[in-house]
Amino acid sequence: MSSNNTIPREEFTNRRNQFMKKIGDGNIAILVSGEEVIRNGDVYFPFRQNSSFHYLTGFPEPSCVAVFAPGSNKPYTLFVRKHDPVMETWVGPRIGLRKAISQYDANQTFDINELSSELPKLIKMSNDVWYSVGANSTIDQLIKDQIVERRDGRQRGGASLTALRDPQETIDNLRVIKSSSEISAIQEAINITSAGLANVEHLSKTGKTEYEVQAILESEYRRLGSPRDGFPSIVAAGNNSCTLHYTANRARIKNGDLLLLDTGAEWDLYSADVSRTYPASGKFTSAQKDVYEIVLSAQQTAIESVRPGMTFYEPHEAAVRVLIDGLKDLKVLKGTRKSIEKSFAYRPFYMHGTSHWLGLDVHDVGNYSNPDQTPVKLKSGMVLTVEPGLYFPTNIDGIPKELKGIGIRIEDDILVTRTGRRNLSEAIPSKIDEISA
Ligand code: GLY
Ligand code: MN
Ligand code: MN
Repeated sequence: MSSNNTIPREEFTNRRNQFMKKIGDGNIAILVSGEEVIRNGDVYFPFRQNSSFHYLTGFPEPSCVAVFAPGSNKPYTLFVRKHDPVMETWVGPRIGLRKAISQYDANQTFDINELSSELPKLIKMSNDVWYSVGANSTIDQLIKDQIVERRDGRQRGGASLTALRDPQETIDNLRVIKSSSEISAIQEAINITSAGLANVEHLSKTGKTEYEVQAILESEYRRLGSPRDGFPSIVAAGNNSCTLHYTANRARIKNGDLLLLDTGAEWDLYSADVSRTYPASGKFTSAQKDVYEIVLSAQQTAIESVRPGMTFYEPHEAAVRVLIDGLKDLKVLKGTRKSIEKSFAYRPFYMHGTSHWLGLDVHDVGNYSNPDQTPVKLKSGMVLTVEPGLYFPTNIDGIPKELKGIGIRIEDDILVTRTGRRNLSEAIPSKIDEISA
């Protein structure tokens, strides 16, 4: 089905059936694929399918629309690009209308150029419409026309179109619980990331550039069949490690620097997300080692708090407690842990969350809080990162001099299991003796 084939075809069918159950018989859901984006002239940015469209269809091409009409005799319609010999000569084969049925299990297909004539017919037959307004201006207009037409035509029979509902949260709620094949895909992405990091780990890094290290990482990902990265690799030496989403990667690595790598290969559209911080020379300074031990201990404590029934925020709260104690030991903060927690005085040194969901998107969909503002509870099948850090940029005053320029983050990808957790990236070394030369 998709590029790396980890997810069986039946799983896409099951996802559609689950989704259609939520949409309800008699209603319709319209989902839009990703679009190609022009970089300049006739050059496009590399295309990657929209994650939710992929989740429900597995269909890899741009400019498509999926329509779900549960309870009807053709519940799954795909509008796709038809064959075009000229375009296919230039940029490669298209799947086309027939294979969208035979290989992707649509019940009927139309040329995407027929959207304006065919989609209204499908909408007319349905009650509620599930569609993310703004996803596509043509569909926005078609739905508006239908609302007006059905309101004005009501006296002559037929129901008004009164309910326009957004399907995204419904899809998010499906995506947040991972199946065993999805976990295999994430694990493969992590294994590839692990191989890339292994090539960097014991490399002599002093004197190299950040982009050379990036090339070593990413060439291993490509060599192992990962078609792209889940997000731009962060390869940050010295003070650059204090910039959370640093991606310039142009600096030269100096002796005594730390090198923070935050990276993830993609496999079958699923992303890894792993951070490791290495001493460039192979040996930590004593201050670097002190900070590293605090972050590692915060991470271990946070990981141990992951189990079903705990809240999404528990790993963060657990990490913050350890980091605060560490900041006190480092003579960066004074006061009781409680007072520091309350005043957020740790924020200049730890300004990000500890976790996010991981899946088709690196910052994957899924709520952290329920509609009543209570935090979401962890459930078996969820995958989240645990990534505490401490950052002491050179331009911050009032901290011990030896801490300046130290930025450390350690990040692993954790699956919530029925009884606790599994650290999917545990095999990637993070202990001090493992990562020192
Ligand atoms: N790689 C971005 C993050 O860790 O959230
Ligand atoms: Mn990361
Ligand atoms: Mn992350």
